[in-house]
Amino acid sequence: MAMVCLSDFEAYAKKYLPKIAWDFFAAGADDCSTRDENILAYKRIRFRPRILRDVSMIDIRTKLLGTDISFPVGIAPTGFHQLAWPDGEKSTARAAKAMNTCYVASTYSTCSLEEISAAAPGGLQWFQLYIHRNREVSQHLVQRAEALGFQGLVLTADLPYTGKRRDDIRNGFRLPPHMKLKNLEGHFEVCKMNPLDPSVTWNDIYWLRSLTTLPLIIKGILTKEDAELAVRQGVQGIIVSNHGGRQLDGAPATIDALAEVVEAVRGRVEVYLDGGIRKGSDVLKALALGAKCVFIGRPALWGLAYKGEEGLQDVLKILQDEFRLSMALAG
Ligand code: FNR
Repeated sequence: MAMVCLSDFEAYAKKYLPKIAWDFFAAGADDCSTRDENILAYKRIRFRPRILRDVSMIDIRTKLLGTDISFPVGIAPTGFHQLAWPDGEKSTARAAKAMNTCYVASTYSTCSLEEISAAAPGGLQWFQLYIHRNREVSQHLVQRAEALGFQGLVLTADLPYTGKRRDDIRNGFRLPPHMKLKNLEGHFEVCKMNPLDPSVTWNDIYWLRSLTTLPLIIKGILTKEDAELAVRQGVQGIIVSNHGGRQLDGAPATIDALAEVVEAVRGRVEVYLDGGIRKGSDVLKALALGAKCVFIGRPALWGLAYKGEEGLQDVLKILQDEFRLSMALAG
């Protein structure tokens, strides 16, 4: 089967992944209205194309906090990549490096940070943190990531508790016994309650910044109020995100929340977006509305499920080609 667009990879993953893994990747919270809205919202946005503007040369490169990437699409943090492909996050890291873009490795990776950084030395990698009740665990992770050469710290701030994902409950989803949360080994299993700290507030950003010199990016902002607070806390970047619709169902589509965040930030920090990016023209819409770069979550997992590192590269190449073409056709 020719893989022409990201939906082809989605169909492949749905057909060949075990149902429990597919359901986990696909899940949204409650009745999935925010998950679906992330995609529908793009379909309501139209371009005002300009013509006769010499589009024979198109430069799609950009910079993330000063580092060059080949085009404005990175890999969002998602957990459990070994559910999609045996080499898991190592394959993800290699694909991102081969395509010269940024990979945000999740706290909930099934490969360790050491394995991820060794798989793609010199690749642009950021580390995504969930703050644990046991602050020493989080402190240790951040300092490990910095020592290994990760170049940014992404704090995911929209998950004080895990959203209610119905299929995961029905399936009794849990990680198969041969897969481990490699970054948390020895910490997770002993914890009977939610290991994440739901009491985290803006005040904890000071603590986090005291642990590291890495630039800090906050993920999960959807309002101008929180964007302003983030800028005041001295963060370097904001990811407008609703966690792929997996947390608060009824939250807005990220592309609909982007404009108010961009307006509030007034260029003081970089603003990125994730959620619902499925075509190159979606990337262009997000950039036109003020995002510096976007990140893909599920489509990266579909690429892995198709052919590991190679499959994820295919997904990125398709997005790259579509994005270039959209830019040209939009003038
Ligand atoms: C996620 N997401 C996520 N976010 C995060 O900060 N840490 C994590 O470990 C995870 N894990 C995770 C697993 C799976 C299976 C999914 C689908 C998502 C959210 C992710 O970073 C991103 O916000 C969304 O996936 C973006 O939406 P799309 O691209 O999937 O539509």
